[in-house]
Amino acid sequence: MAGKFYSHLSPKLKSDSHADKGGCGVFAVEPVKKGELLVMWGGRIITEDEVDPAMPDFTQRVLQIEEGLFLFSMAMEPADCFNHSCDPNAGFTGQIGLVAMRDIEAGEEVCFDYAMCDGTHYDEFDCSCGHPHCRGRVTGDDWARPDLWERYAGYFMPYLQRRIDRLTREVNQKHKLAMA
Ligand SMILES: C[S@@+](CC[C@H](N)C(=O)[O-])C[C@H]1O[C@@H](n2cnc3c(N)ncnc32)[C@H](O)[C@@H]1O
Ligand SMILES: [Zn+2]
Repeated sequence: MAGKFYSHLSPKLKSDSHADKGGCGVFAVEPVKKGELLVMWGGRIITEDEVDPAMPDFTQRVLQIEEGLFLFSMAMEPADCFNHSCDPNAGFTGQIGLVAMRDIEAGEEVCFDYAMCDGTHYDEFDCSCGHPHCRGRVTGDDWARPDLWERYAGYFMPYLQRRIDRLTREVNQKHKLAMA
């Protein structure tokens, strides 16, 4: 497999160094249109009890993709360098793909909001995205913020969208009962 990667990164993107966000990031090398596919990640599916924070490059190589299931990158690759932003330009398509949420210019960093995929506490940190509305700390509970549900509609990982739909149904039902 020398020279081959397990993930497919769009040829319009490359990884480069990013000192403020732990070492590396992913950047556009040419313009990207809204809706274009940016990456399809590959790797091994592991269960929650196999997730071990002592693994080398743990936060780079583990991505929650379902309730109790995680995608584990087989080796550090450029596609493992996508950082979080509180003002993202990318969002999920299914469990292992990312698309552009808007047009992206050459030179821009490509980021998603980790609230779109993280539903447990395995990757939490103080955010240095620098956006005026930065929420400060990124946590495994951020998906539950109603202000993000509308902003990222259609871009959440499917298992989180199911959680959100369930919560919305419960709230609507309570509201109906209160009005009856
Ligand atoms: C999937 S890795 C992304 C690649 C990472 N920058 C690196 O150099 O390996 C996720 C980790 O990157 C860092 N990171 C990502 N987005 C960040 C942000 N907005 N602010 C600070 N650190 C960030 C955090 O340490 C997080 O656990
Ligand atoms: Zn931020």
